[in-house]
Amino acid sequence: MSTQGQFRKVTTKTLLVMKQKGIKIAALTAYDYITAKLLDQAGIDLQLVGDSLSNVFQGNETTLPVTMDEMIYHTKAVTKGIQRSMVIVDLPFMSYQLSVDEAFRNAGRIMKETSAGGVKLEGGEQYAETVKKISDAGIPVLGHIGLTPQSIHQFGSYRERGKTEEEAAQIMKDAKVLEEAGAFAVVLEKIPAALAKKITESLTIPTIGIGAGIHCDGQILVISDMLGLNKDFHPRFVRYYANLADEIDKGIRQYVEDVRKRDFPNESESY
Ligand code: KIV
Repeated sequence: MSTQGQFRKVTTKTLLVMKQKGIKIAALTAYDYITAKLLDQAGIDLQLVGDSLSNVFQGNETTLPVTMDEMIYHTKAVTKGIQRSMVIVDLPFMSYQLSVDEAFRNAGRIMKETSAGGVKLEGGEQYAETVKKISDAGIPVLGHIGLTPQSIHQFGSYRERGKTEEEAAQIMKDAKVLEEAGAFAVVLEKIPAALAKKITESLTIPTIGIGAGIHCDGQILVISDMLGLNKDFHPRFVRYYANLADEIDKGIRQYVEDVRKRDFPNESESY
């Protein structure tokens, strides 16, 4: 079901009402103006300026290198393309881990310097105070638990989380703590569908899943993955909705050929 026209600008309240009404939230990442505009026009409810831009835009192996300045630069471009979607920005690695005050300052910086609608941070219980301080100041906070890519060096792999009873219990606890601390929603990444269902049913705030099954209140994917731009990365939770890598390859090859054989530009393409 499309929510276009039903709601104007998407806010935390909109997302909550969507959960209450059983309308699924459609979210994607965005890192630039043109893409953000297309996603907005196509009915995406939430656009995340994810720190995944470190991987897919900057070509880094992990999300760790991206900086606050770079997140702000991309967010400024994204928000210029938006009329309806809510824009959330990832707090990058080491922008919130140092102290509650440092996290608060950086969340505030994002809100002062961009037109974003809130921030996201990875982690549960250990960031309860941070989430509370930021959200008490009127800055919407999206939690992110399960697989947390910024902790790659602690876990050593991007494997599914929450498979053991102990891990599942901690993820459930993290979700509860984030809700109590004031998070407006929580991303559940790469956890069993049954666990995501339990969490979704026990929270009043929406859950947005990535590799977390059908029962979440919404779904999010990385834009370049779902458009088939990055053929080297195809985990089972990514469905290809387009095959842009092949389309782009075809178009570029045709262009090279046309230039070489003096077919481009023709008379009507010239002045
Ligand atoms: O950075 C990102 O793209 C994310 C999504 C995968 C949820 O955190």
